[in-house]
Amino acid sequence: RRGRRRPVRVYMDGCFDMMHYGHCNALRQARALGDELIVGVVSDDEITANKGPPVTPLHERLIMVRAVKWVHDVIPDAPYAITEDFMNKLFNEYNIDYIIHGDDPCLLPDGTDAYALAKKVGRFKQIKRTEGVSTTDIVGRMLLCVRERSASDSHNHSSLQRQFSHGHGQKIDDSGSGSGTRISHFLPTSRRIVQFSNSRGPGPDSRIVYIDGAFDLFHAGHVEILRLARELGDFLLVGIHTDQTIRCIALIINNCYLCTYQDDLNPYAVPRAMGIYRRLESPLDITTSTIIRRIVANHEAY
Ligand code: CTP
Repeated sequence: RRGRRRPVRVYMDGCFDMMHYGHCNALRQARALGDELIVGVVSDDEITANKGPPVTPLHERLIMVRAVKWVHDVIPDAPYAITEDFMNKLFNEYNIDYIIHGDDPCLLPDGTDAYALAKKVGRFKQIKRTEGVSTTDIVGRMLLCVRERSASDSHNHSSLQRQFSHGHGQKIDDSGSGSGTRISHFLPTSRRIVQFSNSRGPGPDSRIVYIDGAFDLFHAGHVEILRLARELGDFLLVGIHTDQTIRCIALIINNCYLCTYQDDLNPYAVPRAMGIYRRLESPLDITTSTIIRRIVANHEAY
């Protein structure tokens, strides 16, 4: 009968390590297959056992996944393989109707299909994996940039970050293999982009807050600062610097013009003078450098 239908609940699991737009696009498609999307975020130990240690620990991955507007609820510490027990728990305790995954093969270390059981009982649905973006590729690009730093460079983290900001996005590896930067095959058509927007503009009396940044390697620290910025007003507008601007800043810093940059060219001088500038303390102590340091440490350990 109309209006009395139980919501269709769909489950998608994943590592969501260094969450990228491929993951967001997967969550968007998964949500479209039901009414409520429940996301299982795989535990650190399970990821380590199946793919090697994650760059972002569970609590950060949870912040990222929970922030996505299509996610209704999360199950932390989800197992990597959907065992019979866990599948029954999904069906009976969480009222899940379908289990969803991208159309890429997802194999367990023993070579078997991680979703075989769900497929067998006809409760599996597939979404299209987003080509041209993966955590492995991002990590590879970062290691490449770090490796390229000159021997004379100091090994501190800001130096790593400069190398990364300066070097990434410039090299194109047309072979499509290896760890060089590749061209993304994600086609941001207006029809697709509009799905990511909530199609809402500010109202006539809205307090509009503006925040800008590079948002390179979008991480849990970004999510938290955007949340705080949003709380300052009614409508949050986010400015994203162009690749060229980021490269210029990296160059300025590399050439040690940082002092000049801070004194004379402060990008916030105008809003400051107007008295509409606010400085927010980040609630999470994560920066791009933190992420780079973890990647290098993981790489050296394994
Ligand atoms: N996914 C996707 N497109 C991508 C990357 C991931 O659609 N470019 C989907 C996967 O198919 C899966 C979900 O996102 O359903 C979670 O993926 P995850 O377990 O985090 O990892 P991977 O598939 O290994 O993704 P990556 O290679 O980026 O780590």
